Amino acid sequence: MHNFQQLVSQFGDFFSVRHFPHSPATLYEPGEYFLSWGGKRIRPVLCLMGQELFSELTNDAWQAATAVELFHNFTLIHDDMMDEAALRRGNETVHKKYGVNTALLAGDVMLIQAYDYLSRVNHRQLPALLTLFNKTAREVCEGQQLDIDFEKAEQVQLDAYIHMITLKTSVLLAASLQMGALLGGASEGNCDHLYAFGKNLGIAFQIQDDYLDAFGDPEKFGKEVGGDIRQNKKTFLLLHALEVASSEQQKELIELMKQNPSDKVARVLDIFRACGVEAWATELKEKYRQLALHHLESIAVVSSRKQPLLELAQYLLQREH
Ligand code: IPE
Ligand code: IPE
Ligand code: MG
Ligand code: MG
Ligand code: MG
Repeated sequence: MHNFQQLVSQFGDFFSVRHFPHSPATLYEPGEYFLSWGGKRIRPVLCLMGQELFSELTNDAWQAATAVELFHNFTLIHDDMMDEAALRRGNETVHKKYGVNTALLAGDVMLIQAYDYLSRVNHRQLPALLTLFNKTAREVCEGQQLDIDFEKAEQVQLDAYIHMITLKTSVLLAASLQMGALLGGASEGNCDHLYAFGKNLGIAFQIQDDYLDAFGDPEKFGKEVGGDIRQNKKTFLLLHALEVASSEQQKELIELMKQNPSDKVARVLDIFRACGVEAWATELKEKYRQLALHHLESIAVVSSRKQPLLELAQYLLQREH
């Protein structure tokens, strides 16, 4: 068995190969450029941990983990276009550097590469993994569309926000774990609890992401702080502020949402602070962390095997980038 750090480092080594042909460089270099910046590698590590909860690591898990990480990176390239983001992992985003048309294709071809890795899984287990992977990929698209729809919506309920982040973010964490578990021969009951662990952890993870987008340290965050505010994203921060703000603050927030993106960030942040969003973030994250841990406890393996997952959960909710 491996701990969290060991798996991050081993996956880093496994993944740091060229993933694309050399020509045409105009298509493949942007993808290599993007992958070369690394990232936290959470999803592939979850896939590996999912298998190690129930068995030894096998080559299949490394292939599935690679597929998941490529899929994730594909979603990021397209997400940065949708969110008009200029910065990711401290570097210029693909569409900013190479243009929108190339970024579209660089993302597409990365998605195809992900399937290439997935298809290397043994033929007995491949259908189950493929079904799960495809369902998850569709859900991510659904979540991303809802995220965009909500930019224009005046009223979004907390439930709808949670549903949206479940789709765009947390199902991929859950599915990564479950793919590993399936390869590890886990029972259906254990798979279900592990999936639910990942789903709730993923919700808490996106809550932290939204929090950092507003209040993160620009030096550490790697993305443009305030990007969500500029795009009128209906994060829990905004929903909470709209709910508890005085009628004056409410009016101002609604006015600010109509304003030129670059001018409003500082003022919105002031209102967020005045509305106590920090405490609310902690409360909300804690709620989903507890739900996640409850499912982890219900998995029928000795608790020492769950240690790496606990470490990872701890790291995810305290991270600064
Ligand atoms: C970013 O995911 C997209 C979200 C779902 C919040 P990560 O924060 O895992 O991104 P990297 O891969 O570590 O850069
Ligand atoms: C991203 O959500 C979810 C996916 C990429 C599918 P965000 O838009 O909040 O992610 P970041 O903050 O750009 O990484
Ligand atoms: Mg984004
Ligand atoms: Mg987005
Ligand atoms: Mg974000």
